[in-house]
Amino acid sequence: MIDTSPQRKQHSSEQIFDQIAGRYDLLNQLLSGGIDRKWRNQFLKALPANQSELLALDLACGTADVPITLCRSPKIKHVTGIDLSKEMLKIGQTKVENLNLQQRITLQAGDGVTLDGLPDHHFDLVTISFGIRNFSSASQSLSSIHRVLKPGGQLLIMEFSLPENSLIRLPYLFYFRHLLPKLGNLLSGHGDAYTYLNQTVEGFPYGDDFLALMQQAGFAQLLATAQTFGIATLYCGRAV
Ligand SMILES: C[S@@+](CC[C@H](N)C(=O)[O-])C[C@H]1O[C@@H](n2cnc3c(N)ncnc32)[C@H](O)[C@@H]1O
Repeated sequence: MIDTSPQRKQHSSEQIFDQIAGRYDLLNQLLSGGIDRKWRNQFLKALPANQSELLALDLACGTADVPITLCRSPKIKHVTGIDLSKEMLKIGQTKVENLNLQQRITLQAGDGVTLDGLPDHHFDLVTISFGIRNFSSASQSLSSIHRVLKPGGQLLIMEFSLPENSLIRLPYLFYFRHLLPKLGNLLSGHGDAYTYLNQTVEGFPYGDDFLALMQQAGFAQLLATAQTFGIATLYCGRAV
């Protein structure tokens, strides 16, 4: 039986991402057919209107693709990216330096659940892309995010979900349960990294269930927008 306890989830997630960090970006592109980039770009379209000089926080920033994407908008003044995996952060830091974005992006080790050390009511925007389902507690993370956001601040979360339409859902589940784990484990050189992906997605709330968690944590103006037949969903909310 698989141990899905919060402690085990956090420990194994950190270990797995440390081990696959060197191949993570390439694997992402290969296994998603390049759609992952399109999904992250949705954050740019959802940025608050009529606001500038935004201070952003990206949780589970991994190899810094979201901080780098956000910096394509002139609305963004600075992005702090935090992640548990030091190896993912190292690769992210190299990308940030190659793009000469050190003045606008700071990457640091940290836990997206507790947000220890981050000041109250400081950020205008918090983003998470394909990270929150790995956290030991999504609810606790949402409460911490609420604490660090300014009143009215925006939360944008992109996370995997499952297509509602059974004509899409059945073949997708076959790919997701049987082909993707084998392909991912083979290409990453890690015995079970992509078995874990499939399990975390299927066990995680999505759609209205996830919006309910956001509401409980104090978010309003909630919106869930399905991406690519519902394979992923963009969740938006405002701290009230
Ligand atoms: C699938 S990757 C996503 C990376 C990046 N956001 C992206 O879109 O490519 C998940 C990331 O979550 C990080 N992670 C897992 N649990 C975490 C936690 N409690 N706090 C911060 N980062 C965490 C992992 O280390 C990994 O880098």
